[in-house]
Amino acid sequence: MEINSENAVQTRQNTGSENRKAEIWAIGGGKGGTGKTFVVCQLATSLAAMGKRVILIDTDLGGANVHTFFGIKSTEKSISRFFEKKDRLEDLLISTNIDRLSIICGNSSTISPSNVNYAQKVRLFNHIRTLPADYILLDLGGGTNIDTIDIFLLADKPIVVALPEITAIENLYQFIKSAYFRKLKAILGDLNLKDRSKEIWQNRDQYGIHNIIELIEYLKTLSPEVEKSLEANLSDFSINIVLNKVRNVRELQEGFSIRSVCIKYIGINALYAGYIEYDFQFWRNLSLIHSAPRFIVSHSTENEVYKIAGNIISGDQMKIDTLKFL
Ligand SMILES: Nc1ncnc2c1ncn2[C@@H]1O[C@H](COP(=O)(O)OP(=O)(O)OP(=O)(O)O)[C@@H](O)[C@H]1O
Ligand SMILES: [Mg+2]
Repeated sequence: MEINSENAVQTRQNTGSENRKAEIWAIGGGKGGTGKTFVVCQLATSLAAMGKRVILIDTDLGGANVHTFFGIKSTEKSISRFFEKKDRLEDLLISTNIDRLSIICGNSSTISPSNVNYAQKVRLFNHIRTLPADYILLDLGGGTNIDTIDIFLLADKPIVVALPEITAIENLYQFIKSAYFRKLKAILGDLNLKDRSKEIWQNRDQYGIHNIIELIEYLKTLSPEVEKSLEANLSDFSINIVLNKVRNVRELQEGFSIRSVCIKYIGINALYAGYIEYDFQFWRNLSLIHSAPRFIVSHSTENEVYKIAGNIISGDQMKIDTLKFL
């Protein structure tokens, strides 16, 4: 059976909440090296410390390295076995030295992102939802390719990791816009408005439309059904922003600016869940070779990450604590 990818994206948004057992968080964000894997690993341990059952899955098929943060050199027991339909996800779980936290490793040497099609990703999500956990965290690769964006959109809580640097922020907007366009396209596909909206966008000057927000407002005027569908499907789309490698108060303010741009210029709900300081000791810990697999803790950022996890669960905005930088 052929799966219509756009309908499948849409279906998750409409029905995911009733059926889901665990809540799925996906951590992405455009530019490579912003700290997505670092943040997702620290978030997973924070959730476990809160008493939640957590499974962390490495879905960065091109550059898997969650295992490294857990002191595991490499493993045959990886998600590629699921895609090759040999193993169930349950059988790929690896327990860690952190209570209530298991991981499923990636293995970039045997599988490339291009080998995984959309149907396989939908199958992955269907299986993920059956896993025995309260939270399932997915580490995404860098970049804005369609596979990464699809996984990002299928999650219950999409989270982006940003850096307080102009190039990283530009890449982040690109990533968020691409995700939003893909979601909108799926909704318009369901409404049979793909060609019509394309025509409107191509001739936007004639319609007095300057940006995506105005396009959506125009489309809403087409019929009450379109208005209702766009409002229902777009209003629940909200992203969580985590600012990483922060070194001073000025940098931590960037998170608020990113949030404003998302709301004002892209037209999506965004929450600044919090910032994480640069841990100057971490690379040293990471480079140590452990005799037994152990999670590599970032002691100086533990408290911040714990607060971020709490904010993402509750949907709260972060509260500024600037004292530590003074
Ligand atoms: N807050 C931090 N303090 C210190 N080092 C950090 C911090 N966040 C990330 N790092 C380090 O920065 C490097 C890149 O981080 P990471 O691998 O998590 O990035 P990524 O976004 O997952 O990259 P990719 O896009 O390649 O998957 C790693 O060496 C990591 O240990
Ligand atoms: Mg990574």
